[in-house]
Amino acid sequence: MSKTVFLQTYGCQMNERDSEEVLGMLRAQGYEIAQRPESADVILLNTCSVREHAETRAYGKMGELSEIKKEKPSLVLGIIGCMAKLHQEAIFKRLPSVDLVAGPAELYDLPYLLAEIQEKRQSRGKGQGVWGEGNAKIVAVDRAFRPLEHKPQADYHKPGVIAFVTIMEGCDKACTYCIVPKTRGQEISRWPEEIIGEMNRLVNAGYQEVTLLGQNVNSYGKRFPDGSGYQGPLGRLRLLENDPDALVDFPQLLRLIDRRTNIKRVRFTTSHPFDAHERLFQAMAECKSVCESLHLPVQSGSNRILRAMRRGYTAEAYLKKIESLRAYVPKVSLSTDIIVGFPGETQEDFQATVRLMREVRYDNAYIFKYSPRPGTDAASREDDVPREVKEARNQALLTLQEEIIHKKLHAFEGRQVEILVEGAGKIAGQWFGRTRGNHGVIVESPKPLGGRCVAVRIARVGTHTLFGDLT
Ligand code: 5AD
Ligand code: SF4
Repeated sequence: MSKTVFLQTYGCQMNERDSEEVLGMLRAQGYEIAQRPESADVILLNTCSVREHAETRAYGKMGELSEIKKEKPSLVLGIIGCMAKLHQEAIFKRLPSVDLVAGPAELYDLPYLLAEIQEKRQSRGKGQGVWGEGNAKIVAVDRAFRPLEHKPQADYHKPGVIAFVTIMEGCDKACTYCIVPKTRGQEISRWPEEIIGEMNRLVNAGYQEVTLLGQNVNSYGKRFPDGSGYQGPLGRLRLLENDPDALVDFPQLLRLIDRRTNIKRVRFTTSHPFDAHERLFQAMAECKSVCESLHLPVQSGSNRILRAMRRGYTAEAYLKKIESLRAYVPKVSLSTDIIVGFPGETQEDFQATVRLMREVRYDNAYIFKYSPRPGTDAASREDDVPREVKEARNQALLTLQEEIIHKKLHAFEGRQVEILVEGAGKIAGQWFGRTRGNHGVIVESPKPLGGRCVAVRIARVGTHTLFGDLT
């Protein structure tokens, strides 16, 4: 009885991790993973709605894949993830051959949903082969959050040296440009014991580095699956008293991981500046395993725009946090997300972002052109920054970031750094690793270095990577 699944992922690392979980779950149900869509019985696209571009790509891809169904009517096509939650039945209008639409909170239901499709098709008398034929439309998007207590035992982490572990789902923030609270639902944190258990299993399987994932990891612990958490007044009290039974927040989770696992390196993403406090910076400084690296999206350097985005901080407050972080972790490397062309962004607002970038001197910056997302607060405002202006601002920030990183990378020349080698480089005999500050380094070695932490002296600088020699 053939059961093969092909899964393609769009969007963030959380989505990548979700896809790994889906594959683990389906494998436990007897599915095999297909390497090509043509050889699959079930094709799933795990989609993203964060910007219009991501949606256009997924729609295009599913359009292409629908062609396969013309030749193979038993094929099951599914759109899962953020787009599913956002567009629901509307997806069938655009893509009539799609069978299944399931949101991020319904991920653990996928085996049942697929079985339901199979049954529906069979019972309609179109039962041919294992899967039956035709369309059997199912939309599953109603859960408010993912039922973490139903997390499947079977799991699958991409083989390698680095792994991702989701520590919380959803987002309780209300940034006016962002669709995520709508697609991912309310925040819910995994129990610390479970996270530590998963990390210890990863360590035993040879993984050296884990990135903790969540839409806003800094509010970890606010709400656990049984409804407890530090969100209420009692919770805050128990945190402050620092008693052994106190509820766990994110800085405490980092300490627990540092003490109770042998993982070499820990990273985490994403941090919302509003919830990133001195307590976090202290924990970062104390925990040996936690890398000197932080992704702290600022989005804009203009207070007017920050207010319109409902970010909950000013540029000055953000810079103060960076100052505090640098006092605790002097060598910290920083990355950010920035949106250009938010409704009403003037040249002056944009210049404030330029100034902030010059002041912080990020190691990496992801620049996005604003695109209105239906249903968000900002979408009700006129998207009034012309496309060419967005493009010019985008280019200007990219150029500025290039200048900054170029200088920063050159400062590494002659210095010795420790890298964790993630695998072979593109050229034979070369290996690729990262510093604790997340800078990519290429090193030559006739002997395999995968999975090893090695000391390297930086010899020269490429466009975005460092080249080092083993010491
Ligand atoms: N338009 C452009 N960029 C956006 N982002 C989120 N929503 C939008 C939008 N509507 C960016 C933010 C966020 C990153 C993941 O995507 O910078 O941090
Ligand atoms: Fe895209 Fe955001 Fe959903 Fe991740 S959470 S897949 S970035 S919309």
